[in-house]
Amino acid sequence: MRNFAIIAHRGASAVCPENTMSAFERCLELGATGIETDVQMTSDGRLVLIHDETLSRTAAAEGWIKDITYDQLRTYDAGAWFHADFAEERIPSLEDLFRLVQGKGTLLNLELKNGIVSYKGMEEKIVQAIRDWKLEQQVVLSSFNHASLVRCKRLAPEIRTALLYMEKLYRPYDYAVKLEASGLHPYKLAVTHEDVAAALAHGVVTYPFTVNDPAEMQAMIDTGVQGIITDVPDVLASLINVPAR
Ligand code: G3P
Ligand code: CA
Repeated sequence: MRNFAIIAHRGASAVCPENTMSAFERCLELGATGIETDVQMTSDGRLVLIHDETLSRTAAAEGWIKDITYDQLRTYDAGAWFHADFAEERIPSLEDLFRLVQGKGTLLNLELKNGIVSYKGMEEKIVQAIRDWKLEQQVVLSSFNHASLVRCKRLAPEIRTALLYMEKLYRPYDYAVKLEASGLHPYKLAVTHEDVAAALAHGVVTYPFTVNDPAEMQAMIDTGVQGIITDVPDVLASLINVPAR
């Protein structure tokens, strides 16, 4: 299937520590055409890639990202919790990932994690960084914080946005059009064939998350979605790249 987006959730997070450079590099080797990652902000305003607002689960330290400087954050080990082979991995900056994908066709799905902590100025910083690196065409900004996505769209109409949501919505494509979003990123159980088709008719693509089981992937493909966010991009690639008979 041509142009189907194989989006690695937090990089190759089934085989590497999530949201590390190892995970991002590995997912490209495994056939991902896109990378999804989570953006938080340090006390000195640096955008960094880590799922949680706090360090304890993936960085073997205590405290909130919002309360530590970037230099402090870079002292923590973001890989040993996953496996000793990944000890000494660091929490990447947004620029570390930009450097990896620049010049490649990789789709970059940056999720703004500003639902729990309202990072002041995050939208301006992320838009500026994308423009500085000339990655406007490669990036899709997503968030469960839809007000923040509207803010991004006002700042940068040229950068695509996608709405994350968990439960079924009524005519989600109408909502996407109203918010000038070009994508819907629903939880997999909120996907219906009718919504996917209607969204596409409105110019809105649908990429469900997080789909790891091959049978579930096939069911999603059968609804007509244009891409899938997964921890196992190699599994999805093997389904997608089967030659048509
Ligand atoms: O982008 C989809 C997915 O990443 C949203 O959930 O918690 O894994 O960031 P979460
Ligand atoms: Ca995410």
